[in-house]
Amino acid sequence: MKKGYWLLPAMVVAAPAMAQVTPIAGGVEVRGATAAMQVVALTPETLRVRIARDGRFPEDASWAVDSETRKLRAAVKPGANGFSTSALRVVVDPRTLALTVTDRAGKVIVADAAQPVAFDGKGFTLRKAMPQAEHYYGLGDKTGPLDRRGGSFVDWNTDSYGFGVATDPIYKSIPFFVATGGAGGSYGLFLDNSWRSWFDFGHRDDDVLAMGAPDGPVDYYVIAGPTTAEVVRRYGDLTGRSPLMPQWALGYQQSRYSYMTATETRAVADRLRQERVPTDVIWLDIDWQDRNRPFTVDTKAFPDIAGLVRDLGTQGIKLVTITDLHVARAPDQGYAPYDSGVAGDQFVHAADGKTYVAPVWPGPSVFPDFTRKSTRDWYGGLFRQQVDWGIAGVWNDMNEPAIFETPTKTMPLDTVHRIDSDGFAPRTATHAEVHNVYGMQNTRATYDGLRSLRPNERAFVMTRASYAGGQKYAVTWTGDNVSSWDHLKLSVQQLLNLGLSGFAYSAADVGGFTGGPSADLLTKWFEVAAFTPVFRDHSAKNTPRAEPWVDGPEHLAIRRRYVEERYRLMPYLYGLAELNARSGDPIMRPVFYDYPAAASASCDQSMAWTLGGKLLVAGNPRPESLQSYNICLPAGGWYDYWSGRPVQGQVQGGDGPVQSASQATGAARTASLTLMETPRLDRMPVFVRAGTILPRQPLVQSTTETPQGPLELHVYPGPDCAGDLYFDDGHSMGFASGDYLRQHVSCRVSGDGRVTIDFAPREGRYAPWWTAMTVIVHDRVREGRATLGGRVQAARFDPGSGTVAVTLPDQPGGGRLIVTR
Ligand code: NOJ
Repeated sequence: MKKGYWLLPAMVVAAPAMAQVTPIAGGVEVRGATAAMQVVALTPETLRVRIARDGRFPEDASWAVDSETRKLRAAVKPGANGFSTSALRVVVDPRTLALTVTDRAGKVIVADAAQPVAFDGKGFTLRKAMPQAEHYYGLGDKTGPLDRRGGSFVDWNTDSYGFGVATDPIYKSIPFFVATGGAGGSYGLFLDNSWRSWFDFGHRDDDVLAMGAPDGPVDYYVIAGPTTAEVVRRYGDLTGRSPLMPQWALGYQQSRYSYMTATETRAVADRLRQERVPTDVIWLDIDWQDRNRPFTVDTKAFPDIAGLVRDLGTQGIKLVTITDLHVARAPDQGYAPYDSGVAGDQFVHAADGKTYVAPVWPGPSVFPDFTRKSTRDWYGGLFRQQVDWGIAGVWNDMNEPAIFETPTKTMPLDTVHRIDSDGFAPRTATHAEVHNVYGMQNTRATYDGLRSLRPNERAFVMTRASYAGGQKYAVTWTGDNVSSWDHLKLSVQQLLNLGLSGFAYSAADVGGFTGGPSADLLTKWFEVAAFTPVFRDHSAKNTPRAEPWVDGPEHLAIRRRYVEERYRLMPYLYGLAELNARSGDPIMRPVFYDYPAAASASCDQSMAWTLGGKLLVAGNPRPESLQSYNICLPAGGWYDYWSGRPVQGQVQGGDGPVQSASQATGAARTASLTLMETPRLDRMPVFVRAGTILPRQPLVQSTTETPQGPLELHVYPGPDCAGDLYFDDGHSMGFASGDYLRQHVSCRVSGDGRVTIDFAPREGRYAPWWTAMTVIVHDRVREGRATLGGRVQAARFDPGSGTVAVTLPDQPGGGRLIVTR
């Protein structure tokens, strides 16, 4: 007897007596004696559900969804006990408030379970049916396997130094998940409640997906697909997308807690250049400050920050510095953040009405009241000096907020915050309500501050804590992970789930923060991280050093090779970043995002992912093991990235090995492939989808360096062959007013093996760094004949890689290249 056994007797199941379903703008309202419910369609696929426990709806306000978006209403047609949109049918049972959402054909997308809504004092529980075939992803970087099915999770931002692979909660609260595999396709559910919410994916009751919170609004969104990609994009429409980051954010980043002096920082920069490890950023952790006080500098250790910024700049290296949210309580010491904060009454108060003071890095500290716009504006202005010094970006750490010397690791729940923004009526709120959004509002203050101090530059902020929608203000990393193989694997799953939860730019400390990695672990971590969105090597005080060279020349050579490969792929990566800003598609994706059938592949794909769907990285699901493992490649044909050759493998469900991806028969093309991989320390298997045009560039040591030579376009013949170029200056806001370059390139393969490559005319006015392009066509057996607009071009055949390369003048106006076989 499992069903419902955990429903507490005190819980009251909402059952509005004699309730009726009445149409309202964009949806319906059900009003009974004890509870009321509104379901409205913001768009044909996105529904908002609000339930009022006592018949009165709470104020329409949100930290995650802006008021313009909340006001949207799709055209709906009333129906029996519900309504329909052009995509969905919605039915509410007026007796139980059970909600059923189907597609227009009647296939269930999501339906409630028995006792769908229950209240327990101020708390509530929602119960949805959990079909056997469904799997669940998202909730940010929570630990555990990629699939949340069978797990239960709590949202409570927590400083989790050295967290384990199953520790929960950790730093972020993103109460959004995507369900896949159900009859009506994928859907998403976002519970917009900042309190200590929880999710149970069949952990307690194996066919019930339950969720709730101890207080706060019952306010959630159902986002229909049917594809996972559509759900994730629509979640981006709802909560906002990451702005396009500066290109250097995609470069290699070197950090340590801490580089203690300017001399040490310069030495690290020099060594990175001497060892030719391409690098864009060095990070300064808390020791750059005077006594750990934010907005100060330890002038003994760093006598001339502006000079340091300038000198590193000549080496193509930027400086990102940490600024934690706490402000040292330092009265009468000329410490401006404290003095101006007190003068403006900017700090959070304790329940007794005094300013709340608690210990963090600087000792006794006070905490800005970030839920007020005026406080955010004041705080953002404090970055002026850092901006004047030329610091490239800001690292907001400890913003759960972390408090030392207390078992809860954070503020007392009755600490008083003032809310004054985002549709909320100005009022006070307890920390219990604000806790999970506090870090997000900290990054918002920083982001907005940087944007207004440097209006023509993109703002880069890295955060540890956040809430749904926080992707609009900051990139994130997974906090204080451990130097272990388990954590290397966990990091991939965390970054994938972050991507599905709106955070496309994510990092895990390469090598692990605590413990110190073995040489092999650090090398493997470099190989993995080279194909993740943000690539930052970071390690704790009193642990072995973890810079790329620390384990000798052989390890350094491998690590360097992977960093170099990332820089060669920068045009592709940057294009994915730009696509993310427009569409919400994650940069790093689970394989099933682009290839839904992969969800049922026979291989363990827990370490497999794609970059933008076209590059598939097939890491070892047991990264510590040297035993062979299987790689499953979705149907459609693939090339080995390293050799450039079509992949031959065991065809799953086909009649034999595929000889050539581009020549594969119809049957082979529709089949997936299984390959056996024998792990090697220096190898990370990477594949390119047949039908990809992949831009690459000559190697540089920093994104600030202009690549020398032509832009490379690798053409991997196959079905739906295409690629996109996106370039701009990489750092300014000029792209928003037309200073960018976009070009679509497509290719067709004819029966005789002839490849026709079409360059569409370019969009935008950005003048690129190249004057020529080298088109490299894969899967070739001889030189063939290359013509551009009918004129014969020199073609070079490389028997080693089976490629033909043709160098052309740049093609801004469009053009056609034909390469015969
Ligand atoms: C905790 C952060 O998670 C870590 O990355 C940082 O090095 C330390 N704080 C010191 O600032």
